[in-house]
Amino acid sequence: MTTMAIIGAGPGLGLTVARRFGREGFSIALISRHQGRLDELAATLEGEGITARGFTANVRDQESLQGALEAAAEQLGPIEILQYSPLPAKEFMRPVLETVADDLRGPVEFSIYGAVTAARQVVPGMRALKRGTLLFVNGGSAVRPGPAVTGTSVAFAGESAYAQLLHDAVKEQNIHVGQLIIPFGIDDGTDEHSAASVAERLWTMHAERGDFRVYAEPLP
Ligand SMILES: NC(=O)c1ccc[n+]([C@@H]2O[C@H](COP(=O)([O-])OP(=O)(O)OC[C@H]3O[C@@H](n4cnc5c(N)ncnc54)[C@H](OP(=O)(O)O)[C@@H]3O)[C@@H](O)[C@H]2O)c1
Repeated sequence: MTTMAIIGAGPGLGLTVARRFGREGFSIALISRHQGRLDELAATLEGEGITARGFTANVRDQESLQGALEAAAEQLGPIEILQYSPLPAKEFMRPVLETVADDLRGPVEFSIYGAVTAARQVVPGMRALKRGTLLFVNGGSAVRPGPAVTGTSVAFAGESAYAQLLHDAVKEQNIHVGQLIIPFGIDDGTDEHSAASVAERLWTMHAERGDFRVYAEPLP
């Protein structure tokens, strides 16, 4: 069996996506910074009959991210699907006139270096498998910069460009790269915005492929 790695796996979208893809038979590698929380998520999934294990990494630390992905592939099987969806830190979201160059270091490490590190770690294995999917998940500021969320707006733009270039570079090798833009708050009380509906959208992106960029709903 092959594995889906979820980078930025928490109790919200991460867990819901793990359930959706786990139901299809993929083993799930949950990756974020705290082993205790990951163990709880993995136990929940195991209790539902899904093979899951947690691997700690900080996406801002390239070695830890490479190590987690390597361990996941060794212990669970080759990574066929990668989702890059860590939740950005609040400190990345400052108004434009209050943002200095150093404020961009964190968002750039988080959204660009981390995404590039993860992709480079898994693409060779996907080439060997002769199939694969990489899913990048972002808020609306990835396509429309927001004046109050400068760090994520700038860094998401870089992540988006990289993901689109990667899409074009690997599509002939049966590897699909997609970006899901979520312009709303997940689980804000409406069915259309539930984590389950977003997870379903991500499943469709994997199963049916289609365009690089998908909007969970049109930008307001
Ligand atoms: N929540 C929303 O309303 C919303 C809206 C639009 C888009 N999104 C997108 O949806 C995705 C997240 O979904 P969610 O909010 O439901 O989150 P989630 O899957 O419940 O959790 C995301 C996890 O990211 C991990 N994380 C944060 N910083 C990290 C780092 N430096 N290294 C490794 N892991 C890190 C956190 O775990 P640790 O703290 O344990 O590391 C957190 O539990 C993101 O791509 C986000 O841009 C969310």
